[in-house]
Amino acid sequence: MALYSDKVMDHFQNPRNVGKIEDAQNVGIGEVGNAKCGDIMKMYLKVEDGIVTDCKFNTFGCGSAIATSSMATELIMGKSLDEAMELSNKAVVEALDGLPTHKIHCSVLAEEAVKAAVKDYYDKNGIAYDPEKFAQVHDCEHCAD
Ligand code: FES
Repeated sequence: MALYSDKVMDHFQNPRNVGKIEDAQNVGIGEVGNAKCGDIMKMYLKVEDGIVTDCKFNTFGCGSAIATSSMATELIMGKSLDEAMELSNKAVVEALDGLPTHKIHCSVLAEEAVKAAVKDYYDKNGIAYDPEKFAQVHDCEHCAD
């Protein structure tokens, strides 16, 4: 069996929603990195009436990080911020038809980037939130791989 699914290869080779959105009051920007591998992911969410109306990303990292960022943007486009907050790295991996075990940590970066962007949007707009929701999700036993 191939190491990577067709969907992973597709999103890696033809990533959706690459780019950036100009910083503005209604744009949340989240940048996260993995200290172990050095990869960096930046996520931009444009929000109108509590809905993600545009979403772009820039990822400097491995193929799995690019594929998971791309899929994450597709999964949260058109969703409410609450729904975007519920996006888990597992959901992203499932949508990609799986990742090798030692690459699961790359999908954690995508979840963190979305949450960081939502937090930035809340901060910019003085919207109260429960900080617990934004506690570091990076808790991956495979990161050392
Ligand atoms: Fe660093 Fe994939 S995110 S190896």
